[in-house]
Amino acid sequence: MKILTIIGARPQFVKAAVVSRAISSYNEKNPANQIVEVLVHTGQHYDSNMSDVFFQEMRIPVPNYNLGIGGGSHGSMTGKMLEGIEDVLIKEKPDVLLVYGDTNSTLAGALAAVKIHVPVAHVEAGLRSFNMKMPEEINRILTDRISNWLFCPTEVAVANLRSEGISSDSSQSNNSSQFNHSNNSNNFRVLNVGDVMYDAALYYKNIAKPSEMVANLLNDYAQGFYLATVHRAENTDDRARLGGILDSLDKISINKPVILPIHPRTKKMISDYGIKVRNIHLIDPIGYFDMITLLSSCHGVFTDSGGVQKEAYFFHKPCITLREETEWVELVNHGFNKLVGANPELILNAEQAFSKDKLDFSIALYGDGDAGGKIVNHLVSAQ
Ligand code: UD1
Repeated sequence: MKILTIIGARPQFVKAAVVSRAISSYNEKNPANQIVEVLVHTGQHYDSNMSDVFFQEMRIPVPNYNLGIGGGSHGSMTGKMLEGIEDVLIKEKPDVLLVYGDTNSTLAGALAAVKIHVPVAHVEAGLRSFNMKMPEEINRILTDRISNWLFCPTEVAVANLRSEGISSDSSQSNNSSQFNHSNNSNNFRVLNVGDVMYDAALYYKNIAKPSEMVANLLNDYAQGFYLATVHRAENTDDRARLGGILDSLDKISINKPVILPIHPRTKKMISDYGIKVRNIHLIDPIGYFDMITLLSSCHGVFTDSGGVQKEAYFFHKPCITLREETEWVELVNHGFNKLVGANPELILNAEQAFSKDKLDFSIALYGDGDAGGKIVNHLVSAQ
């Protein structure tokens, strides 16, 4: 069986590391029935600390192809990826194309494959923010619509798909427009396998070693610190929102330092807008090992990232989300996560409430830590 995997942006490296490891472990146990994985890196994220570091420390195989398509507008980036991925698909003739999450690389991969009748497997299917202004929401809706395998991380994701008429169990859907892949209905499945990022957190937390830079930060801030990330277009591309978030974090940093690994997009916009950052401790983007080290030692998290909201919960930290909505609604429903948008007053109030909340993190929201193994087994069983 040949799987062609598309990756391109930072969170996809973490997810692909889990499934690539599950493929290797399947191959060790099944010498007569090997899976060949062809890795294609679109090049969407290209800086060494946004890409190479993840491959090195998470031992992700070197990509067989790197399309070198980084930067550019959404249309230009997605169009170039479509063309490059189609060429690779025609050459490699895989049995299935595997995509992760909601980036432009995800959509380009799925679209290139479905047009030439290569079945698509989507890991992290069914998530919705219900905000069509987000490029990620458009990418995931379209990818789900053309996927044969929809690997959902939660029951909420399964229910989202069902409400759009995407269900592999017709008895559970009352929707007369129920979606079906007539060309390949045997391979059409919606499955809750759990979250591959939970697998990653469980596996790597035992082997992660921080860099010297992060080890020094832990020493310097032994009295406690917060961890923050900001990179969503809706925050970075709006001066008032970015200014409001950074002003609030600057104020919070006076009493408790905020460490913020800065995404290249955010760095550029801070400079373009001329925003002054005084107290926040800005650092360059960091690898996964450094990130989980900071997550496990911090007092709480401020973020607009999807993945970091869950990672806060995996490491039992309260999270304040700098967005109006989230795809990970179960975190909000259980009180682990508060949605505050970019409103400075709400951000400051939420920080005040951080230490008062008594949270019970023992509830399992994202599966049993073997999402990667389940994904591989399902794909193999369909061959
Ligand atoms: C992308 C994904 C988002 C994901 C995020 C994780 C889309 C639409 N968005 O957003 O879903 O949460 O990745 O980080 O696919 N840049 C660099 N160096 C790099 C990478 C990017 O300088 O290594 C620059 C790009 O040239 C661009 C900007 O940063 O100007 C943003 O990159 P882009 O890939 O468009 O989107 P992200 O904000 O990273």
